[in-house]
Amino acid sequence: KNLLLLFGGQSTEHEVSCRSVLTVAKAVNREKYRPLFVGITKTGEWIPVENTGKIEDNSWREGKRRAALLPDAALKSLVFMEEDGSFHLEKVDIVFPVLHGKGGEDGTVQGLLELAEIPYVGCGVLSSAISMDKVSTKLAVEKTLTKQGVRQANYIALRHSEWKKEKRREEICVDVERDLHFPVFVKPSNAGSSCGVSKAENKEELLKAVDFALTVDRRVLIEECIKGRELECAVFSGIPGEVKASSVGEIKAAAEFYDYDAKYNNPNSQTDINPDLPEGIEERIQKAAKSVFLAVDGFSLSRVDFFFTGEEIVFNEINTMPGFTSISMYPMLFQKAGWNIEELVENLISSAEN
Ligand code: DAL
Ligand code: MG
Repeated sequence: KNLLLLFGGQSTEHEVSCRSVLTVAKAVNREKYRPLFVGITKTGEWIPVENTGKIEDNSWREGKRRAALLPDAALKSLVFMEEDGSFHLEKVDIVFPVLHGKGGEDGTVQGLLELAEIPYVGCGVLSSAISMDKVSTKLAVEKTLTKQGVRQANYIALRHSEWKKEKRREEICVDVERDLHFPVFVKPSNAGSSCGVSKAENKEELLKAVDFALTVDRRVLIEECIKGRELECAVFSGIPGEVKASSVGEIKAAAEFYDYDAKYNNPNSQTDINPDLPEGIEERIQKAAKSVFLAVDGFSLSRVDFFFTGEEIVFNEINTMPGFTSISMYPMLFQKAGWNIEELVENLISSAEN
């Protein structure tokens, strides 16, 4: 079967995706699947890539050929366009969109795959879209978490158009001081890997932080600062409604908070798959992770992130296409649960067909 591996993408997590796809590529069972690689450049060109060596050394971006996935449900094909203008079709049986962030993890690519009627790994259109957007996620999971005594950070959401008005801007600043208290986190509603996120200690920093976040998205969230340990739970679902949660892992960030740089470029940032936790916390997080996944109508895989303050469990976010780099939590947690990377990738590919 032809397995299309999509990677790269136009999002701020382009580089992470290029590393994730290498992990997945190494684990694919070549006797069952013939991988076809298509890299999406930061400017949106779809480039067929003959081998993973070109992903390792980043030379794939120079490729002159093009590939496009057709929405035609009868063809279910990639069209390859050669440099001389000729083209040919290649049937696609399954797609693994190893794409993070906007244009990959947000329901857009999933929509194209729905039209083409090609099975794909990962969450569907709705769950991807909800999970990518922080404001939408908060609304979707509130009820189920409240029932379990798990809370979310308090927040104020704003739109670019509001922020442009000085009077409204002042009102928001007053609300932040009164309801959230400094310091606060400022985040684009729709982004990943902490891009565009910053911490504001006072009004002056808040103004800058919001402007910065608005460069990434037109909706921004100002959030209460939660101090706690960062705990993550990987979930897998190969049959609709049946969810398997991994044990809980901990991120030991090197930077003050887990920003993009600390997450992917800092060798001192560590993942711990055997954190020492008080009795009952792991089980509660696993249960909450499954509920969050179901509340957003998740399928196939996700990683659900929490804080533990020492007293409370606070839900942070859900990633429907979590990182698959060599230091990523998702594959490590399932390895601990007994699935090596080959088995995990096999299970994920199989989930696409259910
Ligand atoms: N968004 C990145 C890839 C992650 O959460 O792992
Ligand atoms: Mg993310």
